[in-house]
Amino acid sequence: MQQDKLWNDWHPVCIAEELGEDPKQVYVLGERVVIFRNEKGVHAFKDLCIHRGAALSLGKVVNGNLVCAYHAWEYNSEGVCVKIPALPCERPIPKKARATVYHCEEYLGLIWVNLGDEPAPLIKYPEYDQEGYRTIICGPYEVKANAPRIIENFLDVAHLMFVHEGMLGDADHAEVVDYEVNFIDGRFITSKIPVYQPNADGRSKGGYSDYVYEILSPTTARFTKTTEGSDEEFTILVTVNQEDHEQTRVFMLLTRNYDLDKPDEPFREFQDIIFYQDLDVVESQKPELLPLDLQAEMHLKSDALTIAYRRWLDELGIENGTIPVEETNRRKKRVVQG
Ligand code: FES
Ligand code: CO
Repeated sequence: MQQDKLWNDWHPVCIAEELGEDPKQVYVLGERVVIFRNEKGVHAFKDLCIHRGAALSLGKVVNGNLVCAYHAWEYNSEGVCVKIPALPCERPIPKKARATVYHCEEYLGLIWVNLGDEPAPLIKYPEYDQEGYRTIICGPYEVKANAPRIIENFLDVAHLMFVHEGMLGDADHAEVVDYEVNFIDGRFITSKIPVYQPNADGRSKGGYSDYVYEILSPTTARFTKTTEGSDEEFTILVTVNQEDHEQTRVFMLLTRNYDLDKPDEPFREFQDIIFYQDLDVVESQKPELLPLDLQAEMHLKSDALTIAYRRWLDELGIENGTIPVEETNRRKKRVVQG
């Protein structure tokens, strides 16, 4: 059962624009998956041809069907094999000739895959198509850390003044006021947490901003930052794909309702700097799996949100923060001796 929560969750695998005419290999929870696009939309199969086990992602899409590179068996959108070139035409295609089909959606500018039989609903992110708001995608960032460690780092208020000093926080304003964490409509949400911003969004204006954090799923979280006396809203949604037991891919959606006519690049560059500041810390954390036993580490009141996150993972039965993965059969990169 422990596996089901994540198995039935949606995992972001690539930026939608990056899926063109060719199929693409991705990993989800240790599972090798091929995604492809045809006129009906996007599709995900286990990346394995039932004939001789070749990766279907080596093939191509022809007339909307995924064609294996090895002996050109053709699979339609439903995973049914509709053509076997080596088969004399009077013989029927065996019923067993099918690909394993997973759920796949294009949503929020990303491609999402769900391996489960009872897929959870997709997360909600209403800002994405709200008028007057603009969203850009940052990443994907490749990280050697477990997904809950990455989500927890995103939810951690008290690091802003140190890891991101001079950008998102100031060491002389390091105190975190008490805040509330509530569970409403299936997600955690905090009250406003004021943080002194020396250089909010790279725009060099010092002052306090209020952060409201939300945990939307075990591998997706967001915050919205506002400033008193201003209508400006800035939201970051982070969503993490646990590709296998040690590799994750992180996507971030940055949404703003101001400077809509200004270029996106400075926002992306600022976020890249922030992310790489976090990376060294997150990849250094031991144990690699988030400890769900609250006795294992020390907690302050300012850690209320990450404590709630750990308790929730524990309740969901995501034991020890482990993302349970199948033994991965990820191909090791060949090293060419020169
Ligand atoms: Fe795919 Fe033979 S292995 S067609
Ligand atoms: Co950070």
